[in-house]
Amino acid sequence: MLNKSKKFMSFGKMPIANNFLDKKNFNNEYFFDMEVAFNEEKSLLHLKNFPKPSQMFNENYKFFTSTSNYMINHFENFASKITKKFLKNGAKVIEIGCNDGTLLNFFQSKGFECLGFEPSSNVADLAEKKGLKVIKNFFSSEFCDENFRKKTDLICAANVICHIPDLDNLIKGIDSFLSDKGVFIFEEPYLGSMFEKISYDQIYDEHIYIFSISSIKKLFEKYGFELFLAEPQITHGGSMRYFIRRKNANGEVYNIDSLLEVEKNKKLDNLESCLDFKNNCEISKEKTLKKLKFFKNKGLKISGYAATSKSTTILNYCKIGTDIIDCIYDTTPEKIGKFSPGMHIPIIDYKNFQNNYPDVAYLFAWNHKEEITKKESVFLNKGGKWFSHVQL
Ligand code: SAH
Ligand code: TYD
Repeated sequence: MLNKSKKFMSFGKMPIANNFLDKKNFNNEYFFDMEVAFNEEKSLLHLKNFPKPSQMFNENYKFFTSTSNYMINHFENFASKITKKFLKNGAKVIEIGCNDGTLLNFFQSKGFECLGFEPSSNVADLAEKKGLKVIKNFFSSEFCDENFRKKTDLICAANVICHIPDLDNLIKGIDSFLSDKGVFIFEEPYLGSMFEKISYDQIYDEHIYIFSISSIKKLFEKYGFELFLAEPQITHGGSMRYFIRRKNANGEVYNIDSLLEVEKNKKLDNLESCLDFKNNCEISKEKTLKKLKFFKNKGLKISGYAATSKSTTILNYCKIGTDIIDCIYDTTPEKIGKFSPGMHIPIIDYKNFQNNYPDVAYLFAWNHKEEITKKESVFLNKGGKWFSHVQL
């Protein structure tokens, strides 16, 4: 599908972004060449190579949706809004990548018949504990439950469609589950936001694709589906919510043409914008290192805050190790006591932050800035400084 893509940049050797590891595993850590390409035919930015999905999504998966109260709230609003607009009593709902069940549970509590797909069994177990029915596997038409075949009113997903290598197969799966008038609604980090913010840390092994409206339209129309609405979201540093249905459902198409025009003007549908982005990433790396070394030369202590997947790209691309950042504070029990992938910075329980305030804290979850700076407001009051490569 993407054989005419052009490679336009490389981030060098990268480890698995969520593989927070023990010291004993430092010597057998897996690395891959993280090269990025753009396919002009499909307007699609993608990784050239990436680890096998089972290396990333398994019983040791370390991302949990419910670590952010803001995201819990966001998904509650998602479920309410979509229910009002699209669902009737007795509707059937599928979620792809339901993780710990945060979003799907909001639909279940409204009385809909729900089914989740989740290959990472540790997080799937948490969803099951909420009483949700979960197929503990990668989404596929192979697992088509007869109860949901061609009868599903809503298929929803968040921050997972960009993880799925074979998009043709994904769309075949959507086709096998969705009812005639059903809708597929998903939201993913948006290419336009990444280019604007120079948030290159959105690129890591799991994010095989960074989508735009142009790319989603082209991908789905090939299979008789139609993108009929797109809504920008502020979550995860700038995302887009896409609304898809069967073309023969013959409904109204809303803002797509005008948004495509915006993307055209920003050259998001061609390689030119990617080359600008590459240039901007190199400048950003240089600036970040210069600033961090400036802090260090002044004798200031720098720590990290939030051991995100995104931080794996920043730390390994800029080669930031314990000589610059002493540790990273985080709330996730599964990450605490381990070391960051590749650069091996210790991950410490966030509760210790207040007793060890650094002079500067690199906020790796810059996308959760409001939630975190509010929670840690004393840090700023005591003279601490938040830092990031993106504008805070
Ligand atoms: N939707 C949640 C979780 C995002 S993380 C949120 O937005 O917070 C992505 C989740 O999708 C992980 O739990 C991962 O195990 C799962 N996943 C990855 N590939 C998948 C696939 N092909 N089918 C279904 N789930 C997948
Ligand atoms: P997120 O930006 O969702 O991570 P990713 O880049 O992996 O998508 O942030 C989740 C991580 O941030 C997770 O390791 C927990 C951590 N975190 C905190 O430590 N404190 C907080 O208040 C929040 C919201 C997140």
